[in-house]
Amino acid sequence: MCGIVAYVGPKEAYPVILKGLKRLEYRGYDSAGVALLSDELKVYKKKGMVADLEESLVGKDLHAHIGIGHTRWATHGEPSDRNAHPHRSASGKLAMIHNGIIENYGQLKQELANKGYSFSSDTDTEVLLHFIDDIRENNHCTLEEAIRIALRRVTGAYVIVILDTESPDTLIAARKGSPLVIGIGKGEHYLASDASPIIEYTKEVVYVNDYELAIIKPDELILKNLGNEKLTPYVQKLDMELAAIEKGGYEHFMLKEIFEQPHTIYDCLRGRLDISSGKILMSGVEQHIEQLKNANRIIMVACGTSWHAGLVAEYIFEELCRIPVEVEYASEFRYRNPVIHKGDVIIAISQSGETADTLVAIEKAKEQGALIFGVLNVVGSSIARTSHAGAYTHAGPEIGVASTKAFTAQLAVLTMIALKLAKEKGTIDEKRYLHLLTELHDIPEKVQVILEQTENIKKIAEKYADARDFLYLGRGYNFPVALEGALKLKEISYIHAEGYPAAEMKHGPIALVDETLPVVFVATRDAYHEKIISNMQEIKARKGMVLAVISEGDETITKMADDVMVVPVCDEIVAPMLNVIPMQLLAYYIGVYKGLNVDKPRNLAKSVTVE
Ligand code: M6R
Repeated sequence: MCGIVAYVGPKEAYPVILKGLKRLEYRGYDSAGVALLSDELKVYKKKGMVADLEESLVGKDLHAHIGIGHTRWATHGEPSDRNAHPHRSASGKLAMIHNGIIENYGQLKQELANKGYSFSSDTDTEVLLHFIDDIRENNHCTLEEAIRIALRRVTGAYVIVILDTESPDTLIAARKGSPLVIGIGKGEHYLASDASPIIEYTKEVVYVNDYELAIIKPDELILKNLGNEKLTPYVQKLDMELAAIEKGGYEHFMLKEIFEQPHTIYDCLRGRLDISSGKILMSGVEQHIEQLKNANRIIMVACGTSWHAGLVAEYIFEELCRIPVEVEYASEFRYRNPVIHKGDVIIAISQSGETADTLVAIEKAKEQGALIFGVLNVVGSSIARTSHAGAYTHAGPEIGVASTKAFTAQLAVLTMIALKLAKEKGTIDEKRYLHLLTELHDIPEKVQVILEQTENIKKIAEKYADARDFLYLGRGYNFPVALEGALKLKEISYIHAEGYPAAEMKHGPIALVDETLPVVFVATRDAYHEKIISNMQEIKARKGMVLAVISEGDETITKMADDVMVVPVCDEIVAPMLNVIPMQLLAYYIGVYKGLNVDKPRNLAKSVTVE
């Protein structure tokens, strides 16, 4: 959802903000804007990408040492110049950017309208800004006080940053439910939705917490709660390099991230998986080992691709640890009054660590006494801070909107947790345990082997790129991979695709099959192999086109399928980490073939911080 950037200090603010917005564009890209304060307050906004804004500003006076910028993902009001941020207050003194949703904006808007306010946009943001401005003008209080009063009335989620002509060297920011990072430079401060716009200037950052207010000058950062009490900022060091957030010669971030997977999976296993001693070292698990291994039930809570990782983990945990597992869409779980007992463990899976539905779901479960364990990629994210314990996936920044390397790293972490618990519980025999450690250890190398067949997958992608619909089928551990393959294709190519358990096909989806329908089977050798071959025959008998992900040496399917994508032989438990790679490449190349913006597909945003 929207990305925000702000700067105050000796540098020219505009280039810093513009570069930051480009780095944050994955969060939202329907419009962008900046507000710069020097002799006067200048606000520039434009529908479209950050590059459109940049072009529209050529020749304009952009000089300022303080400013705010925003890239939008529309919630209230269509993408347009007028709905783009920053918004300006009625007094003309304030400019504000906002990420989140003000849920009671309708009521506030009515109150303001009754007082004679008019609105130049359809956004909830403008309503909040007028509300703050109104409080300050009528109560003759400071902006800080007005913000505090206003935020006590607001329901919803927000990060706001305000520029004020009455305090031309000060930014005021506040957060609830949406992310905000402050970078501390020498006599300067940077604000952003995540660390990517900050990393090239400083590694010292403060993550602002919910219900906190930051008053930021070039050489001063004051943090307060909404009760006006001062807080001590907790300064952390960023563990990230600039190269990690740049394309490094690849045409798209998505392709770069697909190709990074041998390294990211290796980084995830490194220091944890010790083949020589037969141990898995995970401090987050060790600290809560009794609760985890004696869990009555594990509930995986996640959205999108992370939910698919949870589904794979369900199969693995039940198989290896004999603990009942449920996998919940966070968006449903948070609203449906679920039954949670003290011995329950929630595993929250999230790349961004900021997904609003997942965050609220775990907050609710936490209130009811469950242990919250996060499997997360972004260090210091909101879900990380809300969890009791966790394990990071160490996949590095994922910029492409479609999740790729985060998924395989989630699977690596979840598999290690399951193996560690199974070993502790004694639900796995030593031979199988050691075999699976080796299988996990070998995954990065096997991913590399798959990536070497990219040209073949590209050709297959081009052959099927004009199809109107796709069906993805898999069984067992490969069923969630089929779901993930279908999601990737939808996101990147806008082709309608559905994923199903292969046996479920005959209960309805088989009606779709004809000579125009490509059916992708995730059909590597596992316990269901014979059965999925039968399902494939059912498709062939109805003239469907069969594309199959198969294990090396599978002559039977090679003869039967129209096209095959071959992966190295491996144990079925680790197979999803390999089998998803051809799915990612297939979606990527179909999207590229169709000339689409694969890194920033329409209507999507990387970090879904609204419900
Ligand atoms: O950051 P999260 O893992 O919590 O995000 C969850 C989903 O929004 C995300 O996986 C989404 O489905 C991706 N676009 C999938 O590629």
